[in-house]
Amino acid sequence: MATVPVRLGDRSYDVLVGPGVRASLAGVVRRLGAQRAAVVSARPAEWVPDTGVETLLLPARDGEQDKTLSTVEALCGEFARFGLTRSDVVVSCGGGTTTDVVGLAAALYHRGVAVVHLPTTLLAQVDASVGGKTAVNLPAGKNLVGAFWQPSAVLCDTDYLSTLPDRELRNGLGEIARCHFIGAPDLRGLPTAEQIAAGVTLKARIVEQDERDAGLRHLLNYGHTLGHALEVATGFALRHGEAVAIGTVFAGRLAGELGRIDQARVDEHLAVVGHYGLATALPADVEPEVLLRQMRRDKKAITGLSFVLDGPAGAELVSDVPPEVVARVLDRMPRERAAGAVRT
Ligand code: GLY
Repeated sequence: MATVPVRLGDRSYDVLVGPGVRASLAGVVRRLGAQRAAVVSARPAEWVPDTGVETLLLPARDGEQDKTLSTVEALCGEFARFGLTRSDVVVSCGGGTTTDVVGLAAALYHRGVAVVHLPTTLLAQVDASVGGKTAVNLPAGKNLVGAFWQPSAVLCDTDYLSTLPDRELRNGLGEIARCHFIGAPDLRGLPTAEQIAAGVTLKARIVEQDERDAGLRHLLNYGHTLGHALEVATGFALRHGEAVAIGTVFAGRLAGELGRIDQARVDEHLAVVGHYGLATALPADVEPEVLLRQMRRDKKAITGLSFVLDGPAGAELVSDVPPEVVARVLDRMPRERAAGAVRT
């Protein structure tokens, strides 16, 4: 088992990674001094370990469709009916959409109650459940309403991963692949638990320096500018990690086109993403103009088009990238031949 501390002063916590770590939940709850726990789980009841205190189990559904303010309102109503106080604890169990929405409910209930995440997908273990970003969607866009609310602990039980379909694993591998270009050692070939612990360690060190996403934390969005645009342009047929993988290949090509990295490093992007078994080509049926329009809406894009790009000093946020260069690199990206860039 690995313990990764996230050092944020009085908001510090540990992320435990390894088989069976969910069994630590009762100890965590005891240390918090909680007398009641509201467990919100998108997984069967038996996946959630004993909390050691009086517990309300609430079912949840992973997926963007339930990442809404009405879910937050419904959860907070259940917390209140149960009599959850501000010194009790909320526990989430599920994928990243569940940890996001439950994290926001915990941030808002009584103006903030402790939350412990039990992420059950690779994507949630390596990224979503760590770092304190919580959010829900509005019809106008993803993650538009949220709060920074650090968990009191994150238990990344790798036993949960054994039941994941291949496609869900690949979704997480996209986030592991992008770690290669933002300061992680080469994680190819390592056991999954070590890859998760390394990804979480990298994220922890970044979040410790920029909890509120004012600068350095943008690095975590490597490959995400095109990735988010691809998710939207495909109507979310491409999963987040799959889209980030293609966005990572694109970021390498764009950095090469701008003279920031040499061809060998550009090729390394393709090799790393390909190593993890992820698609590296654009879906056949997405229009470059649609992607460009969407990338202009990226939240990093205060002015013009912005990307996190590799360079002589490592990855950094690059603003005002000329649209004609972006369009040229997009045009030269390999395309999936059939309409199905998404392999199930
Ligand atoms: N997933 C990116 C972040 O937590 O900042």
